[in-house]
Amino acid sequence: MRQKDILGLYGLEAGEIEEILSLGLTMKGLLKEGKKTLPDLAGKSVTTLFYENSTRTRCSFELAAKYLGAHVVNLSVATSSVQKGETLIDTGKTLDAMRCDVIVIRHPVGGAPKLLADTVRAHVINAGDGMNEHPSQALLDMLTMKEHLGTIKGRKVAILGDIRHSRVAKSNLYGLKKLGAEVTMYAPKTLMPVGLDQMGAKICSSREEAVEGADVVMGLRIQLERQKAGNFPSLGEYAKYYGVNEEVMKYAKPGALVMHPGPVNRGVELTSSLIDGDSSKIEDQVLSGVAVRMAMLKLLTEGDCQ
Ligand code: CP
Repeated sequence: MRQKDILGLYGLEAGEIEEILSLGLTMKGLLKEGKKTLPDLAGKSVTTLFYENSTRTRCSFELAAKYLGAHVVNLSVATSSVQKGETLIDTGKTLDAMRCDVIVIRHPVGGAPKLLADTVRAHVINAGDGMNEHPSQALLDMLTMKEHLGTIKGRKVAILGDIRHSRVAKSNLYGLKKLGAEVTMYAPKTLMPVGLDQMGAKICSSREEAVEGADVVMGLRIQLERQKAGNFPSLGEYAKYYGVNEEVMKYAKPGALVMHPGPVNRGVELTSSLIDGDSSKIEDQVLSGVAVRMAMLKLLTEGDCQ
């Protein structure tokens, strides 16, 4: 890869996304065969630096780096010198001084990974920054689609849920449009930002319109604190009027993939029976997450001097 860092899909070219997906599919095949000892990152060090909670992203970056033979440190922000007031830049410089090769950062402020990347020698991977981007999530989503549908070009992907606060929605929109997919979106008006149509999304006025003829139906997490902010009356009403259920899925193509980045609120964004049904790829997305993160780490570091 030409890039020093992976900060978002807005800044990646279609060819770079294809390269990551292609290697990710190879990695996923190896993982399915039980191969978890590869030499590609031997002698390299990877630090995860998460200022926000995570299960999937942090754990899968750690496993991906370990499967590739790297030394891995998970810096616990809650018990680090961040609590003594150390700035992000000084934390980054400290990791640089220790000869860390890759920093994987999640931060509540959009743009924080870019600030870090501009400051440190290490490669920086954005593991989610505020409401901006979550590139590795969109890449694993696209890898899952590519594996099950063969191609992304010409496919229709419907995204429903809290789009306004979602970095996953934005990264998927950038990536899917670059690879030639159609993206439809539907949410309550209070959870739909302005301007996504100018970025290539088709904003729909009903669930059925969004899902009509879709190859993929993706639910996004309703952040429970949004209800307290008055963005919708109750989870029950959200599920009834905006959630995806079996009736809504009848508008999608037969066998359309059901996806969700997790963590999922069962019975809110998607019914439990859809989450656990044959068309659900939610667990498979998790394995794609390890594979695509292996690909990202390998491609980012392979040109480095030892
Ligand atoms: N999808 C996702 O980012 O999950 P985590 O918050 O558990 O990492």
